[in-house]
Amino acid sequence: MSSQRVSIEPQRVGAPLTSSATFLVVTATDKPDSIKTIRSTLAGLDSLAKNVSIRDLNAQFACTVGIGSAIWDTLTGLPRPSELHPFREVKGSKHTAISTPGDLLFHIRAERRDLSFEFERQLLDQLGDAVSVVDETVGFRYFDVRDLLGFVDGTANPVGPSVPSSVLVAEEDSSAQGGSYVVVQKYTHDLESWKKLPVEMQEKIIGRTKFENMELDDAESGQRSHKTLNTIEDEDGNEHDILRDNMPFGSPGKGEFGTYFIGYTRRLWVIERMLERMFVGDPPGLHDRILDFSTPLTGITFLRRRRVCWRVWTRIECLHR
Ligand code: HEM
Repeated sequence: MSSQRVSIEPQRVGAPLTSSATFLVVTATDKPDSIKTIRSTLAGLDSLAKNVSIRDLNAQFACTVGIGSAIWDTLTGLPRPSELHPFREVKGSKHTAISTPGDLLFHIRAERRDLSFEFERQLLDQLGDAVSVVDETVGFRYFDVRDLLGFVDGTANPVGPSVPSSVLVAEEDSSAQGGSYVVVQKYTHDLESWKKLPVEMQEKIIGRTKFENMELDDAESGQRSHKTLNTIEDEDGNEHDILRDNMPFGSPGKGEFGTYFIGYTRRLWVIERMLERMFVGDPPGLHDRILDFSTPLTGITFLRRRRVCWRVWTRIECLHR
């Protein structure tokens, strides 16, 4: 399966799927210089990325940065993107999509784990005590892009020209134009129970066949599959896609098996509606059965700004010097 995807600038949100990714979430500390340090680190991020990526240009190194709602005003001093707000908890009758803290997300991707490691090391050196790490998850590509439930994950992602139109905020939201809303959730799986389900039942839950990855028909009524619950249409019948770059992670020795969900979108409401449909259910009460085997440990929303913002910050830093 090809791992190439159309690359769109800036900050390469549509960077190719790589064999390794690090998801680093940090919060700002209350040290007097924290905001200043974060600004100057972000202003120098492109140089840091160049230092690392030059060591192997074939490694497809990319890093996208998301800024959380709580720190947006202080950090950027820019008008708020119209949909930016903290991750809204979604409480269903059985499962809850919890909301957890996080000011900055670094989504670091590369074909080589050592490059991501080196970049993260230098990044955290620069940030120093301006931040504390909330979560660091290292994901890996598992066989033919499968999740640890054994299904191919990412098939319905937009491709080609549909990538920017699904992912990049346009003129409807001028303070976020050219950026993307980003939602992350770190899930762990109860693989023992999942493996006890007959494959046919697993396929009904996901909405695709396991081996051949063929799409199953939507259920006319009653229990809907993960695929159907995550197909979102607006009032005019237009379907809205998001770009997912989920990664398996885990440690068999510790009995940890998970999926790090990351979704990039032009419209935050699209992912929020997906979460409502998964956790509350459609119809309400019939939640996504993937949740009976997968528990979200985090839930955070960010905005990835287009690169121009780093240059603006460099100017802000110069003015403050
Ligand atoms: C436990 C975590 C999750 C796992 C293991 C998982 C796995 C999968 C798999 C195997 C597919 C079918 C193949 C594909 O099209 O990619 C799929 C589809 C999809 N998932 Fe998930 N997923 C997870 C969480 C989520 C969450 C939290 C969302 C959204 C908030 C989401 C949104 C989607 C969408 C939009 C599709 C494509 C639906 C379509 O066919 O149009 N997934 N997922």
